[in-house]
Amino acid sequence: MQKFAWWVVTALSLALLAIQVVPYGQSHENPRVRAEPPWGPGVRVLAVRDCFDCHSNETIWPWYSNIAPVSWLTQSDVDGGREHLNFSEWDWPQEDASEMVQVVENMKMPPWYYPARLSTVDRATLVRGLAGLIRCIGLSNVTAAQVAEAQAITDIVCVQNSYNLAYRHDDALIDDLARQGIAYVPFFPLGGFSPLQSSTLSSVAGRLGATPMQVALAWLLHRSSNILLIPGTSSVAHLRENLAAGQLTLSPQTLAELDGIAAAAAAVKH
Ligand code: HEC
Repeated sequence: MQKFAWWVVTALSLALLAIQVVPYGQSHENPRVRAEPPWGPGVRVLAVRDCFDCHSNETIWPWYSNIAPVSWLTQSDVDGGREHLNFSEWDWPQEDASEMVQVVENMKMPPWYYPARLSTVDRATLVRGLAGLIRCIGLSNVTAAQVAEAQAITDIVCVQNSYNLAYRHDDALIDDLARQGIAYVPFFPLGGFSPLQSSTLSSVAGRLGATPMQVALAWLLHRSSNILLIPGTSSVAHLRENLAAGQLTLSPQTLAELDGIAAAAAAVKH
């Protein structure tokens, strides 16, 4: 029996030694800090102590993060944590920032197996501080019903959906948002056009001495005062072209002609 126990201990020790050579979990990388949020007083200290190890590029790797298999867990926590929320990359949209307050309030973060736990006072300070970092909330890819659902919970400042001359499913939503003073950010200004629709757009553009993209953008700006454009831009020339679209005035006749693009498509479908 004793011999058996000896064998088990030896086998386990050898296995533990062997897994130390697995590269995963050993890199302990800290990428460059790009930008941090505008912390309120006393908030950063708490965030550094309780969140930074998994949600920043300033991870202090604990001693146990050098020993497999614990190192694998710490690596996956840091990778996963940074992916969801990274306080060192605040110049980049942080999709899960809106959940910060809730996870701390509900004591879901930091994970239970992590040594540092927040006292009640620290938790309240952190919750208040993190709430202060969320200035406004926008929604993307949503239906009118989902907008209403979100508005029942909190203020919404903008909605971003696919919308253009040819794809006008959000017409009613845009008018409704305009009445409420909420911005609408259309994406795919030239997406989903049929060849027929494109040729109408091209002929209008040709007449105005503009590109189809410029006309599509100008039409969006004419469509409603709450339209906010963020056209993709790949070069300075492209940027100038997009900006010039803002100067393009479309006459009522031209607008009617462009409105006909979607109307014609609807007529074909029905
Ligand atoms: C030990 C590492 C660790 C610490 C410390 C930690 N987190 Fe996390 N956090 C994670 C991981 C891992 C995830 C991704 C969880 C998942 O995939 O579901 C995460 C996810 C999140 C999310 C996204 C929402 C969610 O539920 O997926 C938020 C918000 C968050 N953490 C906030 C915080 C805040 C605020 C702190 C500090 C009080 C904190 N975390 C401390 C590891 C950590």
